[in-house]
Amino acid sequence: MYPWLDPSGRFSVFKLVVFVALVVPGCLLLWPVIAEGGATIPVKEAILESGEWAIRILLITLLVTPLRRMTRFSKLVQVRRQIGVAAFCYVMIHFGLYAISQNLDPFRIASEIVLRIYLTIGFVALVGLAVLTATSTKSAMRRLGAKWGRLHKLVYPIAVLGIVHFFLQSKIDVTEATLMAGMFVGLMLYRFAHWRGWSLRSSKTLLSIAVLSGLATAGIEYAWYGLATGIPADRVVAANLECMWPLRPAWTVLLAGIGFAVIAQFGRDKPARSMIARVFGTQKVAAGASSR
Ligand code: HEM
Repeated sequence: MYPWLDPSGRFSVFKLVVFVALVVPGCLLLWPVIAEGGATIPVKEAILESGEWAIRILLITLLVTPLRRMTRFSKLVQVRRQIGVAAFCYVMIHFGLYAISQNLDPFRIASEIVLRIYLTIGFVALVGLAVLTATSTKSAMRRLGAKWGRLHKLVYPIAVLGIVHFFLQSKIDVTEATLMAGMFVGLMLYRFAHWRGWSLRSSKTLLSIAVLSGLATAGIEYAWYGLATGIPADRVVAANLECMWPLRPAWTVLLAGIGFAVIAQFGRDKPARSMIARVFGTQKVAAGASSR
């Protein structure tokens, strides 16, 4: 099925926008590699960029369900698989570029994966994502029945492995990796809140999660510098208290959490929901959601 068609086979602006947003970064990062015929520097840069996009898109996949609960925008479910498959595609691009950087030598690639722990961890995550992608179809869902849900919970350890891989290869500057880890904690807290029966439309719940995940992010940064580097961890914590740009990861995570609390207010607001429904042609969905 074409990625811009909805389940009933009709053209969907929403699905098209999501599809284009997922494809554009891939084209932009691959373009210099193609233009320069696979030269070393563009390949190295594209390895880093594709890895960053892989982890970002994997986390966006985990955001879909909480965001749907916050906003009641039930059409989000239609793009969850598309986003998950895109995360796998970016990991495959990342791996393919790595293979090119190793002159496509299978023995060299295999021995590097076995010998370097950060590559071993990345590879396990890649295999896990391949299994989830292969079993993400409707027929696999039917075949696996109740086991499908349990199998797809593997996405959480896979995301953790992706983040650990990110930390291990980042060497001294773990700003981006810390940001991803903090976002992941926030996403897990949304799931925990839902599991405890706390509404993801309550400002109190969402703001508490924002603060907790911001603090957890500062804690992760402190722990990393304290345990894995010789940099005094208290200097890192003090940096969080200074006003600086770009923002420290803990502040970015806190602000993102506050942003979601604001978005959830729109979910409660009937005129805003109707406007979204009009833009994306989902009147029925909005009407149904409002009665729930
Ligand atoms: C789910 C699987 C994976 C994810 C999410 C992932 C993600 C990442 C991220 C975020 C980075 C850092 C980018 C940066 O620093 O800007 C990275 C770097 C890297 N990854 Fe992966 N990766 C995965 C699997 C793999 C695999 C299977 C390989 C190869 C066997 C691999 C090889 C590399 C290499 C070589 C680097 C750059 C290291 C350097 O230049 O220091 N990754 N990856």
